Amino acid sequence: MPSPGVHHVEMHLLLEGVFQVYGHDFRDYAEASLHRRLSKWLTESRFSTFSQAQGAVLRDPAVFHSLLTGLTVNVTEMFRDPLAFKTIREQVVPHLRTYPSLKVWVAGCASGEEAYSMAILLEEEGFKDRYRIYATDVDPEVLEQAKAGIYPLKELQRFTQNYQKAGGRAAFSDYYSARFDRAMLEPRLRERMVFATHNLAVDAGFGEMHLALCRNVLIYFKPVLKQRVLSLLDTSITPGGFLCLGLKEGLETTEWQRSYEEVVARTRIYRKRYA
Ligand SMILES: C[S@@+](CC[C@H](N)C(=O)[O-])C[C@H]1O[C@@H](n2cnc3c(N)ncnc32)[C@H](O)[C@@H]1O
Repeated sequence: MPSPGVHHVEMHLLLEGVFQVYGHDFRDYAEASLHRRLSKWLTESRFSTFSQAQGAVLRDPAVFHSLLTGLTVNVTEMFRDPLAFKTIREQVVPHLRTYPSLKVWVAGCASGEEAYSMAILLEEEGFKDRYRIYATDVDPEVLEQAKAGIYPLKELQRFTQNYQKAGGRAAFSDYYSARFDRAMLEPRLRERMVFATHNLAVDAGFGEMHLALCRNVLIYFKPVLKQRVLSLLDTSITPGGFLCLGLKEGLETTEWQRSYEEVVARTRIYRKRYA
């Protein structure tokens, strides 16, 4: 095993190489969690050092994809932080109703639970075919799970509790069918959803979003990358539109603080002011 200093240098060289070859930029991810995840990937790989792994990662897209999956934290659940969804339902939806059609961006959607939660909420609030949800993530593997909309049945109890706490209006079981140990979400929920790979660190934003959710993603980034992503979200959100961040994230102490107001204190749901 090389000394910690060498280990660190090798890790940075690998990330630099990944950026040069694949255009995926992990160089400004928060150091501690990045280091932990990369080291775990290395331990589980057939390589003993990052230098040894480098050639394979840079030349073999399959090895790169295993690294990409190892690097991203995909933990999520339906109606995660139910109070946020309750606030969207009660405080944000009345404004969203004023638009003839609605565009929602779920950035860093992982395996899709957050995007399906939004689809259920909008359906219950009567948006029918008046909305489109763009669900994006950097990791193509989790996006495949998102497209399938099939989740382990054992998760459904927690999803159901969250849904109820979030002010759900129906029986959660109306939205899935159970088969063996899996629950398949109703395919109609997917009809107004578009899934796409999108990298918040390097790609351009989307235009004219009325609501953008980017929750539990910024916590993995260094300040410089947070800044880039907030700027991207800001340019994607229409004036009067909404931004929903994770509970440990926020616009306070950023340059966007004055262009947004928090809808309800400490919910991390913000409305963009008109110029
Ligand atoms: C912890 S999950 C959050 C999922 C969901 N938003 C939630 O709050 O439950 C973080 C997600 O961000 C994605 N991610 C990490 N870096 C990204 C980037 N540069 N661009 C887009 N997505 C990214 C990861 O792949 C992962 O699926």
